[in-house]
Amino acid sequence: MSEQAVDNGQSADENSIMSLIHELNSAIPFDEFMELALYHPNYGYYTSDRKRVGTDGDFITSVSVGQCFGMVLAHHFAPFIESLASSSDEVVIVELGAEEGDLAKDMMDALSDLVSDSVFERLRYVAVEPFPPKRVALRSNFIRDGLDEFEIISGFNELSVKNCILIANEVLDAIPVKRIRWNGREWDEVCVMVVDENGEKRLVESEERIQSSALMDTVKDFPTDLIKGFTVEVNLRYNKLFEDMFSASEILYGCLIDYGLRDGEIFDLGRKNGTLRAYSKHGIIKDPLSSPGRIDLTAHVNFDHASSVARSCGFEVGSITDQYHFLVKAAEPWLLEIEKIGEPNAETVKLLRQFKMLFHPSVMGQDFKVMEIKKGI
Ligand SMILES: C[S@@+](CC[C@H](N)C(=O)[O-])C[C@H]1O[C@@H](n2cnc3c(N)ncnc32)[C@H](O)[C@@H]1O
Repeated sequence: MSEQAVDNGQSADENSIMSLIHELNSAIPFDEFMELALYHPNYGYYTSDRKRVGTDGDFITSVSVGQCFGMVLAHHFAPFIESLASSSDEVVIVELGAEEGDLAKDMMDALSDLVSDSVFERLRYVAVEPFPPKRVALRSNFIRDGLDEFEIISGFNELSVKNCILIANEVLDAIPVKRIRWNGREWDEVCVMVVDENGEKRLVESEERIQSSALMDTVKDFPTDLIKGFTVEVNLRYNKLFEDMFSASEILYGCLIDYGLRDGEIFDLGRKNGTLRAYSKHGIIKDPLSSPGRIDLTAHVNFDHASSVARSCGFEVGSITDQYHFLVKAAEPWLLEIEKIGEPNAETVKLLRQFKMLFHPSVMGQDFKVMEIKKGI
């Protein structure tokens, strides 16, 4: 993707986020800035009604590639669903970050053919959507698609079920991160503040002493033989997320899918500026502070950190597989079926094209990883 500058005309929204920070009269930690920029109820990027995902949005995801992703995930989950349903009245599929609701539709479409009728009748689909404007938009999409029975809740505290299948695609990367920077002697926290230069305000980074004891605790085991300015993202918000997930059901099997790295890779010299990126219209925006509320902000998931948080909350963490190996294994029954039929029809050719994009290591197969979590299985 090419780096580009976003046009400088500041929108009312952008000024509003800057005004909010300006009013505080001090620098705020990066995660608080990211939360405002992405999720502020009035000015946030994700809470606005813009088109974000897909070729006509700012970035693509495996879901927006087409229905193949949901179909292959349905193949992966179907045996678990059948087995959970054998000992329970219902099985609940819970999705985090359903955005426009396409994955819900694609997975349930495929599951209607893959599990027995008696099991399908007992399947519930629940989207967890914490942000009120997004709940409204998602509800209207479900109604538009005739999926009125799909449920939307604001958090895991509204859920208390026996059996849960959990799916979250590209959610962990959208959860606000702290940023820390090595100053040659110790780690500083990267904060965000407003500067006023000749009457023109803009957001800039400022490096502050770490105040948070949780952050201090996390960085104490980090390497120190790094060059000055080395920057790393740390997500301290996973704890709450995994705790909430853990308490929502007795039995859970989940797949968290995202682009990310393992511990060692985070400290590669090639990533000395960290993994935080800003996107708009399929291009990288050079300055992530330049247009808060109008651009996406995201950071690679540190899967070793995410899995250790999941474990500390009580989950068993299964494999962390790349999307290539995960999808090729999950799709095996579908691919064998196609082979049996012989000449694929136009619909199958379309799905195979999507499949290639999803699994091919040079497209989405290598950078994306699937982390499995389990409770009570
Ligand atoms: C990059 S988008 C991915 C959307 C969709 N899953 C896909 O793959 O196309 C990230 C999504 O995560 C959602 N999100 C962020 N934090 C969340 C949370 N704590 N619970 C549920 N969804 C969350 C955002 O609102 C957004 O819809």
